[in-house]
Amino acid sequence: MKKTNSVLTIKDLSYRYDNQTVLENIHLVVPSGSFLAIVGPNGSGKTTLLKSILGLVKLQKGSIELFGTPISKFKDWTRIGFVSQKANSFNSGFPATVFEVVSSGLTAKLGLFRFFKHEHKKKVIEALQSVGMEKFLYRNIGELSGGQQQRVFIARSLVSEPDLLILDEPTVGVDAQTVQTFYNMLEDINKKKGITLILVTHDVGTISDKVSHVACLNKHLHFHGSAKEFDMFADPDLSQFYGHSLQVITHDHSHGR
Ligand SMILES: Nc1ncnc2c1ncn2[C@@H]1O[C@H](COP(=O)(O)OP(=O)(O)OP(=O)(O)O)[C@@H](O)[C@H]1O
Ligand SMILES: [Mg+2]
Repeated sequence: MKKTNSVLTIKDLSYRYDNQTVLENIHLVVPSGSFLAIVGPNGSGKTTLLKSILGLVKLQKGSIELFGTPISKFKDWTRIGFVSQKANSFNSGFPATVFEVVSSGLTAKLGLFRFFKHEHKKKVIEALQSVGMEKFLYRNIGELSGGQQQRVFIARSLVSEPDLLILDEPTVGVDAQTVQTFYNMLEDINKKKGITLILVTHDVGTISDKVSHVACLNKHLHFHGSAKEFDMFADPDLSQFYGHSLQVITHDHSHGR
């Protein structure tokens, strides 16, 4: 197999639903170890782009390579974790514990652990530790807050030890204070575990000191560059891109936790 440092390479990707083109001429390269934020207004094609990367919608035009392999030939899906936009929707009656939910992320690799219950549990606890939820191991998933449930879903996608983790707006409904801890947690997952992250978010003002790269999508890729370049691009350009004025919080890159 061809050697590559790029986890994802997209060339000239376009996608249309019936008579509406939602992605056009997208070029995007995501190097291994990077943390990319994708921002864009509602309906700008962010989820469709993620679905294309995950092979959930058919490739119509252009090409996508995952770990150097064309998506049509790619089989190693356990290398990619995904937390969808509507993951946190369990009600209080849902009969599954946090342990069971996170364990379900191991299904693809379960053959390996069938005779190693202890190993299995250890992996679940480790995944929960990396999202700060290990204390809730036997709690019913439906009895957790939305933000806590979202963390459990991230643990579920981490338990199979992916090389690439894709998150579609994981902070919807999460309060401002928790959003910060949430991004710190993602930063740790990226830096300490070396997992490449792609994050769709609306938190334009808070992400650029956490991520390494930013992409602004609105059918076309209007901007793609380092977080530093994004900070310079910000304000008027970004407001224009979003089609309304936008308050971008200025921050310095030197602050601690
Ligand atoms: N299954 C579908 N069939 C037809 N049109 C769709 C379908 N899914 C999405 N669309 C349309 O494609 C466009 C892009 O949708 P998409 O979900 O990718 O946007 P998004 O950037 O993720 O938006 P949001 O920020 O609201 O999540 C929208 O206009 C949407 O109405
Ligand atoms: Mg979406």
